[in-house]
Amino acid sequence: MKAIEIRNKYLDFFKRHGHVVIPSAPLIPENDSSVLFTTAGMQPLVPYLLGEKHPAGKRLCDYQKCLRTNDIDEVGDNRHLTYFEMLGNWSLGDYFKEESIQMSFDFLTKELGIPVEKLSVTCFAGDEDCPRDNITAECWKKAGIPEERIYFYGKDDNWWIAGEEGPCGPDTEMFYDTGKPACGPDCQPSCDCGKYVEIWNNVFMEYFKDKNGYSKLKQRNVDTGLGLERMTMLLEGKETPFDTELFAPVMEKLQQLQKVDLVESRRIVAEHLRASMMVIADGGRPSNIDRGYILRRLIRRMIRHLNKLQIDLNTALPDLIEINVNNLKEMYPELAEKQDTIKQVIIEEKDKFAKTLVRGEKEFEKEIKKLQGTETKKIPSDIVFKLYDTYGFPPEETKDLASEYGYEIDLNEFQELFKKHQEKSRQGAEHKFKGGLADQNEKTIAYHTATHLLHQALRNVLGDHVRQCGSNITEERLRFDFTHPQKMTKEEIQKVEDMVNEQIKRDLKVTCEEMSYEDAKKSGAIGLFTDKYGDRVKVYTIGDFSKEICGGPHVTHTGDMGTFKITKEESSSSGVRRIKAVLIK
Ligand code: SER
Repeated sequence: MKAIEIRNKYLDFFKRHGHVVIPSAPLIPENDSSVLFTTAGMQPLVPYLLGEKHPAGKRLCDYQKCLRTNDIDEVGDNRHLTYFEMLGNWSLGDYFKEESIQMSFDFLTKELGIPVEKLSVTCFAGDEDCPRDNITAECWKKAGIPEERIYFYGKDDNWWIAGEEGPCGPDTEMFYDTGKPACGPDCQPSCDCGKYVEIWNNVFMEYFKDKNGYSKLKQRNVDTGLGLERMTMLLEGKETPFDTELFAPVMEKLQQLQKVDLVESRRIVAEHLRASMMVIADGGRPSNIDRGYILRRLIRRMIRHLNKLQIDLNTALPDLIEINVNNLKEMYPELAEKQDTIKQVIIEEKDKFAKTLVRGEKEFEKEIKKLQGTETKKIPSDIVFKLYDTYGFPPEETKDLASEYGYEIDLNEFQELFKKHQEKSRQGAEHKFKGGLADQNEKTIAYHTATHLLHQALRNVLGDHVRQCGSNITEERLRFDFTHPQKMTKEEIQKVEDMVNEQIKRDLKVTCEEMSYEDAKKSGAIGLFTDKYGDRVKVYTIGDFSKEICGGPHVTHTGDMGTFKITKEESSSSGVRRIKAVLIK
């Protein structure tokens, strides 16, 4: 069964069971500086899991584009991916364990035709925070899974939380038995010998964790996630996702073009190419920080492996991109729409990388000159790391060059330094993720409302050509990108600032209404990213001043927001200005 058929069957099935299909959020979260990429289907839904009302109702389903880069260095083996698609269904305070399990069981066995004998499930074994989940086990038995294939594990396996804090709960996971021989008498779903493959995870999200421990959420939710690539692999009877139709055309092309046969490199190229294309289609651009840096790493790692395969970049890259667009455009029409941009960004990055390599070589030569006066024949690992970290020069290149000069490097030592560095940035990223989920506080909510006021004020002062093209909120400030051809004058900035402050002083009431997207447009609400909205949307109205389609949350009255001050007005890109502003209390 092709991936798109699985996706369609999934969405149809849950539609028939009363769910509303909502669109995938972009890979790059909006209004949220605290997460780098969307990493799970639940992430864009956090406010609703916490109790905010969703305009599409209490039963939702979608396919969600996800990127997880923690394991980027594992890509190349037979299973790891950075980009993947997660199919999900949610109950926002509606059905709970029994119905969720019955639907999962029916979907797997009836819609996908997986024999019951192939399925095992796991449940939460219980601990001091939450009791053993016998109810879930009973539901599985009732659905048709025999007791001997129901396993209980602790928090490590059967508890789900994104990061350190946020909504969470016990989960139940479904496993597919590949039919491979058991690795021993203790072989179980938790074992990673490859016999059992996890296919679906249903989280019974009724807790919230923060630094003080666990508390109960306002409502009991269900959050499920089914990895599409994995399911496709199993249903197509393939050994790895790279053998499925999702990757096959690119993999085959690489095989034709390569002069050296390296399966790992082919997988890395195929995986990173697809991931980069998806990120670029959603607006990502390479840079040296955060998201941009991850995209840069994906593209550069892909290029390095194309080099290893000794494939000519200049001719191959545009072809490979086209092959992927054609293969994936039915699933992701945005790839076809953004094809030119994708090509341009990847090719520009390839050229920059070529320059980096030249610069790195120069730096390398400087270092070698210093060493040539000494006894050693080994390039110290901190230098290898510096070349990598400061100049982007990959250690594999350093190694090749070093051997030309009769020197060695210790890649293991480099790896240690790299790991230490990675650990630091991982902590940073987790911190960010944690922030994202817990980040619905008074300050960010006020900034969100201030963003609406600013948007309308800009339109009033500068004209209706002003459109939001990006927004980013932290506890300290808002940042707002909008279309406008020239620098704002001092007077314009003052006018906008005054207008926003006037609305705050008027203590306008903020109200929210749900309606169809069409009605929202008719009502004059400003809509921002049209393709992101579902059929039903929320419209936030601030007194008589602003009306905008938005998921919320917002303050209830503008009065307490503080004094609005624009701290910066600058160019963001051609035809786009960027404002940073603060609320001072
Ligand atoms: N949030 C859970 C996961 O990512 C289920 O959707 O696996």
